Amino acid sequence: MEFERCIGCEACREACPNDAIQCEEIDKVDTVKIFVEGMEVEVPRDITIKDALQCLGYSLTVFPFEKAMYFPCRTGGCYSCLVSADGRFVRACITPVRKDMVIRLDEEKPVKRIVSEPEGHSVGGVGTPWWVKGKGRAVEVAVWVAGCNLRCPQCQNHNVTYESKAKPLTPEEAALKVSVARKKFSVDRMAISGGEPTLNVKWLLRFFKELRKINNDRKARLHLDTNATILDKHYIDLLVEAGMTDIGPDLKGAKAETFMKITGITDRNLAEKYLNNSWETVKYVVDRYQGKVFIGVGVPYNSFFMDKHELREIGDKLVSIDEKIQVCVLDYYPVFKRRNILRPTLKEMMEARDVLLESGLKTVLAQTPIGHIGP
Ligand code: FES
Repeated sequence: MEFERCIGCEACREACPNDAIQCEEIDKVDTVKIFVEGMEVEVPRDITIKDALQCLGYSLTVFPFEKAMYFPCRTGGCYSCLVSADGRFVRACITPVRKDMVIRLDEEKPVKRIVSEPEGHSVGGVGTPWWVKGKGRAVEVAVWVAGCNLRCPQCQNHNVTYESKAKPLTPEEAALKVSVARKKFSVDRMAISGGEPTLNVKWLLRFFKELRKINNDRKARLHLDTNATILDKHYIDLLVEAGMTDIGPDLKGAKAETFMKITGITDRNLAEKYLNNSWETVKYVVDRYQGKVFIGVGVPYNSFFMDKHELREIGDKLVSIDEKIQVCVLDYYPVFKRRNILRPTLKEMMEARDVLLESGLKTVLAQTPIGHIGP
């Protein structure tokens, strides 16, 4: 989306690998009149609809089931924040207010989201069972969605994550594309990754339901790759009901400090909540859905972020949930910002894998510079 003036949404700064684009000083003195839910109000001129709503006292949240206005990505990717403005649905997080704009919050929103083209994937994600990996051909087809609630400076998929200009798709359109790709690549596994797929709840549930409707054979596997930070029991139940069969949550540390370092989340309370949700997701899926939903856990590792003691703590916590759970320790290195961090060597990754094995985990893979090793 192109605008004449900076509106301070900061989506450009988030998306810039060099932190190079600085927003202009926002004029908070000039005001414009707008109408929100029929009420005439004055708000600063060069701000987003989201910020205008916040100025007016609306509370905002990053969790989908809270009673507040939901803004999880704030960069225009997830389409969760659509509002009606002058009769058109726009993303409130990146759309400026305009003089006399009429904003309605109660209208039924279209359900859509920016999604990449499906691709064949020869390795799959962390939620792909180890025994189907390494066949030398595609093992699943995957799409990646725009928008994430985290701000990992080393993000390994920043081009998709911060995409905001591409045409969004309905869940049905995306499911059809994935189903066609399944045939093209002759696979049974269909995956969605990101960005963060869970942000737009309605979109994701309808996507899985439609995929299941088109692919109603027993071989079809529907795989969610997720940071698991906004999942809870209710949401997981809905996903399973919608057809999800495989899940790959990431555990970005045992400690909140580590999570904050990896994800760029600076609010400690929020970081604790996000990290706790990701651990609880693993526990709940194992306890409630063992045998029905396959779970593979990803642990991003780089000595820059965590030491071996914390890795061992992660291993011990996972053993207490299920010693047989599949765990993939990922050689985590920067692709976006923080380019000074070195990629872990093969030796470092084998040592990291050994730490997890020593904790008693039975199924540990390591992603290394020469490919996956183990279990
Ligand atoms: S919060 Fe506005 S598009 Fe994601």
